[in-house]
Amino acid sequence: MAKVVEMNNDGFVEGEEYYCPECKRNHTKGKIYKDHLKYILNGVPSEDEQITAEFEDANEEYDTLELEDESYGNDDGSEDDINEDGIDEQEINDEDIDESIIDDRDSCINDVKSLPGVGEATLTKLIKSGFNSLEAIAYTPPSIIINESGLGEKTTAKLIKASMEKLKIGFKSAEDVWEHRKNIARITTGSPELDEILGGGVETGSIIEFFGEFRTGKTQIMHQLCVNVQLPKELGGLEGNALYIDTEGTFRPERIIQMAESLDLDAKKVLKNIIFGRAYNSDHQIILVKEAANLIKERNIKLIIVDSLIGHFRSEYIGRGTLANRQQTINQHIHDLLRLADIHSDLAVIVTNQVQAKPDVFYGNPLQAAGGNVVAHGSTIRIYLRKGKGVQRVAKIVDAPNLPEGEAVFSITEEGIKEG
Ligand code: GTP
Ligand code: MG
Repeated sequence: MAKVVEMNNDGFVEGEEYYCPECKRNHTKGKIYKDHLKYILNGVPSEDEQITAEFEDANEEYDTLELEDESYGNDDGSEDDINEDGIDEQEINDEDIDESIIDDRDSCINDVKSLPGVGEATLTKLIKSGFNSLEAIAYTPPSIIINESGLGEKTTAKLIKASMEKLKIGFKSAEDVWEHRKNIARITTGSPELDEILGGGVETGSIIEFFGEFRTGKTQIMHQLCVNVQLPKELGGLEGNALYIDTEGTFRPERIIQMAESLDLDAKKVLKNIIFGRAYNSDHQIILVKEAANLIKERNIKLIIVDSLIGHFRSEYIGRGTLANRQQTINQHIHDLLRLADIHSDLAVIVTNQVQAKPDVFYGNPLQAAGGNVVAHGSTIRIYLRKGKGVQRVAKIVDAPNLPEGEAVFSITEEGIKEG
């Protein structure tokens, strides 16, 4: 299980002395540079150990519950072996892993390998920094590839150009766009009325934002979607897994178990298929989204959740003077998320957002989503939630390119999100 590291706002991590492979020496003052954070996520790494991400299965998070079968970890309590590809051996042997996922990932890497000028060294740099498909290379700004992979400017420009040519990116006919949109799938929310105003459920290939005041059900809907994405297609799922980035510490495996059991699903399996990352501050949140890119194909992720998107940014960037800087960082973060949705048309990216009072509004609703225009323009579909009577909540589509404005009533029950 990944070691959790606290990082303060100066970008330093408090802790013990670490050997940092990046500096090839110990950091002696008990602090480590933010850029080297990845080297300490799993404790002190050995020379040949490959570190991936600070994500864990949701059931590892849930270690307080007494479980009938305690076979979550290895029986002997040992660490899992990591093979040369950095892939957990136990997972490969796991009967739940679909062979086609591994084939799919290999074929993406083979496409990258086939680009002109890509030898073993370049390939390793690309894969290690998460650029493991033509789409990932083609859609990422050159400066980001250069920064994260360590490749030179010319090589990067050539790789992007070649990837774009292979993917035939440029102008295309509306018919091609229609072909692409036909791949877009939907996940049921659990409420038929809410599904209806969303055009059949939350759609893949876009960023969807649920915003509203506290206790309006944002986190509950996120939990429900993590369960529902695992359902068979005929029941409104995508037969895929979820990745949950929790910035507020409100993820509750107990709720997942209740929701899974009410759908007659094996709760332990459902928990295992939710990959969980707790973001302790905005820098950490940004790192987790970047690392998520590596896990999508490998772990058959069909849903990425950030609950909530802006909270850390709001509390860390205080005062008008820092506003421009804050908005720019949020903008980049949203573009990291948008790129994931663009690259994977079968992936839903869902974020939650708080509301803030708008003091100059005297008529109509004085509440607006936090983050301002940057967030509003980044999200493709925006849904405003408000409280109704008792367990009822009202959802309203406020901004969507292809959906009429509509309202739906749903309920938050013991079993999860249900019809109102
Ligand atoms: P913030 O994160 O604080 O902005 O709120 P949120 O919009 O994420 O609210 P959340 O999704 O946490 O919704 C909380 C609501 O869900 C509360 O009104 C709870 O009463 C309700 N809720 C949570 N768990 C249960 C449950 O087990 N049963 C029922 N019936 N309701 C629940
Ligand atoms: Mg919440």
